[in-house]
Amino acid sequence: MKLDILLGLQWGDEGKGKVVDVFTPHYDVIARFQGGPNAGHTLEFNGIKHVLHTIPSGIFHNDKVNIIGNGVVIDPVVFQKEIEALEKIGVDPVKNLFISKKAHLILPTHKWLDAMLEEQKGEQKIGSTLKGIGPTYTDKVARNGYRIGDVITPNYLDKFSELYKKHADTLIKNGFKPKEDMTTVFTEWFNSLQTLLRFNFVDCEYEINDYLKTGKKVLAEGAQGTLLDVDFGSYPFVTSSNTVAAGACTGLGIAPSQTGRVIGIVKAYCTRVGSGPFPTELFDETGEQLRKQGHEFGSTTGRSRRCGWLDLVALKYSIMINGVTEIVLTKADVMDNFDSIKVCTHYKIGKETTQKFPPDFTTEIKPVYKEFKGWKQNLSVQNDYELLPQTFKKFVSFIEQETGVPITTLSIGPDREQTIIRH
Ligand code: GDP
Ligand code: IMO
Ligand code: MG
Repeated sequence: MKLDILLGLQWGDEGKGKVVDVFTPHYDVIARFQGGPNAGHTLEFNGIKHVLHTIPSGIFHNDKVNIIGNGVVIDPVVFQKEIEALEKIGVDPVKNLFISKKAHLILPTHKWLDAMLEEQKGEQKIGSTLKGIGPTYTDKVARNGYRIGDVITPNYLDKFSELYKKHADTLIKNGFKPKEDMTTVFTEWFNSLQTLLRFNFVDCEYEINDYLKTGKKVLAEGAQGTLLDVDFGSYPFVTSSNTVAAGACTGLGIAPSQTGRVIGIVKAYCTRVGSGPFPTELFDETGEQLRKQGHEFGSTTGRSRRCGWLDLVALKYSIMINGVTEIVLTKADVMDNFDSIKVCTHYKIGKETTQKFPPDFTTEIKPVYKEFKGWKQNLSVQNDYELLPQTFKKFVSFIEQETGVPITTLSIGPDREQTIIRH
């Protein structure tokens, strides 16, 4: 079998968690390949909402294997809280969750460095989730990182102390003072390692390749979105990992030749948390309506999400970078009562009209829009595509024609059941 990849094509929060949960029955293994507790993946079923940060969204299906890949960064304290929340509702994650020995650990000092660096950026701050993501990946690339596998070595404390000392030097030099009580923070961090140690640490590259060789179906679950990718996103307002399909290869140890479907998750409008360019952002009543009706508040930080119209220039760029084979369109139901809906087809940059996503955003971008009549019906009560309003189908067909990619699934509500599979 080939590895299928599911990822976000915008600035994150496209509804990846919900869609992975819906697709899980068709897979044997679900594997996260990058990011960490900056992610917040929401699932809803039986009237209950669950938010996952580090754990793959297949965890609620008790016959499926879930893997946290080498490309992920793990905060053991956040991980412990996720495990406790799962166990409280009767999910037994220990038997079907495996963690790569090569995944890196987030230390408390990584979070403080994150806060310090953001503060130093002033007006130019990224709007990081402050979960320690950037500093942890920095240490990984600088070859200073502390990996899951290190926790089970006899000299695990020496390794920790070495890295802690490096961080403390930088923090002290910069006059950074943590707001929290340090003893409490470190006690909590070391205690949380006990939860991690209940799990099997694996060589995920061997595990997943073996699964594929023996005919098992594996789905790679992306975090964040393509426009937050460290190489291809709106740099420097990005996260510190490769969120694109190629990241699934390095984040799990799978060769490009072993990849199959690339499922792109697209919200029917756009949102962004934190700073950075957002050409179709709305600052008016319509933006407010999208935020309110779409409950656009961060699953990780609770921050208000910036909202705007769907951007086809950015979407086509994401489709190209990822080689997307099919789209899952989410949250169109949020616009059920809109009189009209806009979609950006081009950018006007100076005198030029372009369909290219610019490498930097130094010149002002004016989006060019195509307007659609609103469907003015409750989409979420339907489960047959054919019965959906013509006005909505026109919107769907336009996206398909423009991108050249079929919309194979529609998510029309947060619940597992509110999903229409077309093909
Ligand atoms: P993720 O990070 O991509 O998994 O997305 P988030 O969970 O951060 O944000 C998506 C939000 O939209 C969550 O609150 C979901 O419950 C909700 N959601 C997902 N799909 C739909 C949908 O089709 N319609 C509506 N109304 N809400 C949805
Ligand atoms: P999911 O997986 C939306 C954003 C942050 C910030 C930038 C860098 O739920 O879609 P970081 O903490 O990585 O240093 O933040 O990236 N960001 C996300 N935005 N959804 C996410 O994940 C995000 N993860 C990071 O808001 O702008
Ligand atoms: Mg999210």
